[in-house]
Amino acid sequence: MPVDARRLIRKMRGGAQAHLLEAEDGHFYVVKFSNNPQHRRVLVNEWIASVFLKYLGLPGADAAMVRVAPEFLEAHPDVHLQLGSSRRPVEPGWHFGSRFPGDPTRIVVYDFLPDALLTKVENLMDFRGMLAFDQWMGNADSRQAVFFRALLKEWLPAHAAHPRQVGFVAQMIDHGFVFGGDHWRLDDAPLQGIYHRVMVYASVRSLQDFEPWLERIVHFPEAIVDQAVKQIPPAWLAGDEGALDALLDQLMRRRRRVPDLMEACRKAKSNPFPAWA
Ligand SMILES: Nc1ncnc2c1ncn2[C@@H]1O[C@H](COP(=O)(O)OP(=O)(O)OP(=O)(O)O)[C@@H](O)[C@H]1O
Ligand SMILES: [Mg+2]
Repeated sequence: MPVDARRLIRKMRGGAQAHLLEAEDGHFYVVKFSNNPQHRRVLVNEWIASVFLKYLGLPGADAAMVRVAPEFLEAHPDVHLQLGSSRRPVEPGWHFGSRFPGDPTRIVVYDFLPDALLTKVENLMDFRGMLAFDQWMGNADSRQAVFFRALLKEWLPAHAAHPRQVGFVAQMIDHGFVFGGDHWRLDDAPLQGIYHRVMVYASVRSLQDFEPWLERIVHFPEAIVDQAVKQIPPAWLAGDEGALDALLDQLMRRRRRVPDLMEACRKAKSNPFPAWA
């Protein structure tokens, strides 16, 4: 079920020209519109990635369908897309929302952390699982995450030593370019999906260090794929149904190759895993 947008907070940077909107459920969402300048398919990619990450136990930002009504657009003329010097109106309907981790007037969300703070991120290990995921999903973009300080009990219960413990949390965002973006292709590329701060992989010593995620990917259930596809609004697909089916068949065949893809990553020109000899 979609949530309705009720207020524009601000435009975000980035090629998709996402907008931060407040919705009727009281949450805030970074919304990519179906007629964004990248491609309609990036919404499908984002949705599938969010469902898969949830299953894998990786910290993707929560996702929702955000409905933009014609009345909302009339009341918020600043909500539009800019293509060079021309304005493209946003289509009313359902769009992809990535949930902001709180009220943007109260929480500071960082796109990057300096090294000294990055090492303190409580769930830094999750970057390993994300690399396996990105290799599988053919993410043509490098890994992107946001960071914020929060009550661990709420965000990473397994990491909370006591109920009031606060720490830095990483949330994974921007899956518009899995499946090669609008190409819907699964290419092998040894360093695809790598996080540019390779210190997050510093303690990787073997393939074993990508567990439990590797195992979950290799045995990824067909049922989760079906569930994700069923939730996609028909307007996001319109004519793309066959292409999506073919892509997902290929993705399922690719599952068992992911351990080899990780090995190839290690053998890349610049091995991101210095401790894995
Ligand atoms: N769930 C989220 N919580 C907080 N901030 C977010 C979230 N999702 C996206 N953002 C912010 O919005 C920006 C744009 O989002 P995103 O990277 O997904 O869009 P994009 O247009 O695809 O970007 P790019 O040009 O890098 O491909 C991000 O750089 C990040 O700062
Ligand atoms: Mg981005």
